[in-house]
Amino acid sequence: MNQGNEAYAERIRSLAPTEEPERQYYFIDVMKGILLAREEELGRKLTMNIQTFGCQMNAKDSETLAGILSSIGYLESDSEEADLVLYNTCTVRENANTRVYGRIGYLGNRKKLNPEKRIILCGCMMQEPQAVEKIRKSYRFVDVIFGTHNIYKLAELLFEREISGSLIVDVWDKAETIVEDLPRLNKYGFKAGINIMYGCNNFCSYCIVPYVRGRERSRSAEDIVEEARHLAACGVREVMLLGQNVNSYGKNTEGGITFAQLLARVSEVEGIRRIRFMTPHPKDLSDELIEEIARNDKVCKHVHLPLQSGSSSLLKAMNRHYTKEQYLELVAKIKERIPGVAVTTDIIVGFPGETEADFEDTCDVVRRAGFMSAYTFLYSKRTETPAAKMENQIPDDVAGARFKRLLEVVGEVSSAQAQEFEGQTVPVLCEEYKAEEGLMTGRMDNNLLVHFPCEEKLLGELVTVKLDVCKGFYYLGTLCSTGV
Ligand code: 5AD
Ligand code: SF4
Repeated sequence: MNQGNEAYAERIRSLAPTEEPERQYYFIDVMKGILLAREEELGRKLTMNIQTFGCQMNAKDSETLAGILSSIGYLESDSEEADLVLYNTCTVRENANTRVYGRIGYLGNRKKLNPEKRIILCGCMMQEPQAVEKIRKSYRFVDVIFGTHNIYKLAELLFEREISGSLIVDVWDKAETIVEDLPRLNKYGFKAGINIMYGCNNFCSYCIVPYVRGRERSRSAEDIVEEARHLAACGVREVMLLGQNVNSYGKNTEGGITFAQLLARVSEVEGIRRIRFMTPHPKDLSDELIEEIARNDKVCKHVHLPLQSGSSSLLKAMNRHYTKEQYLELVAKIKERIPGVAVTTDIIVGFPGETEADFEDTCDVVRRAGFMSAYTFLYSKRTETPAAKMENQIPDDVAGARFKRLLEVVGEVSSAQAQEFEGQTVPVLCEEYKAEEGLMTGRMDNNLLVHFPCEEKLLGELVTVKLDVCKGFYYLGTLCSTGV
């Protein structure tokens, strides 16, 4: 696809609008032309495959990236044999990076068989200079690398790659602006994520996110509500409002509204039936937010509240700004004011200096808080973070043994929590259909899943289901009524 013509490239660049997103729509059109010409030569369509690692924010970014690629003309494929493979990476834990290197190596071998193949890497891991250096040296077949702050530039970067015929690297230290109104290819037609803010200012001592995602920036409430309206018009019933710490929403924006007020505004959008959000920080979860969740029928009764550790001294070393007691009081308040609420959490095992007593504190909180589910992680040392320099790093075998014990405690507590709904009839959103078994998987307001026999045409609809039997972490049920 290499045009090999600098004069042509200069002319294309000189005609490009300077404003965004207009500039990117221009490069989408340019790339569309290049792709069409290539497809004519090859006598076939070109395909793309996106692999997303990590959190919901990355999943949302991948929908934008898929939107740009499909506007250019690439057809979606579910195989990494596709002509363009894009990895949207995560670097929260070291093993995510190791996995990515292994898979890039494999892609390199496939590229030898398909010279059209383009390998694009983006996301959090690319914000780390060491990672980019390693790829430049050892994986020279990669085509484009960009970070978390300029995903909107994908079409322009692909154009530069086609012109130069060699690797394009464009990683920024911080975001310049928030670019609105980019194309988007929604993975599920009926539910979608909406970014409400980017970045994080909390600097928990173990966490690399503030270094790779930059400082907090909130989108305007108008832009968020407009996106919700647009999604609703496209058939979306459930939106998930996304931010590293949603409690900070609007705090550094002139005339900004609070997160609770934002929930109220989004819930006024006609067609949106359910609102979820991720993630509030326990240190500043307001009473106003608790009241809004309790009051607002559209806001799901589910609060994901990362604990990280149950030991007050470890929480201090983690820079979390709450104690064991404060966390437990907060959970008690949430459960009292929001009947039927599910509280879920994230826990790290093996943080530097973790003693047996610290670990017991964590298990104690799991039992007393009554989590519906918990994501458990082995502490992973991330370069540049304060915790990486701490003494008393915990040996792998000790951390591993504690991790296993924690899984047992979490398993007992969450299956007891899940049991409580047996026999009830509840609204669920039909999310996945397995044709072989004729079974639909629906998600309750509190995030639990239920499988029940029904027809495929109800996919994406809200229905009511009787919860017949609890099977540990999910239910088997019977469809009661449609058109809720
Ligand atoms: N090691 C292990 N887990 C981590 N998390 C963040 N940083 C690390 C780390 N260095 C976990 C936290 C966070 C979740 C998204 O990832 O529990 O809430
Ligand atoms: Fe990382 Fe803490 Fe920010 Fe969450 S709040 S992204 S754990 S620094």
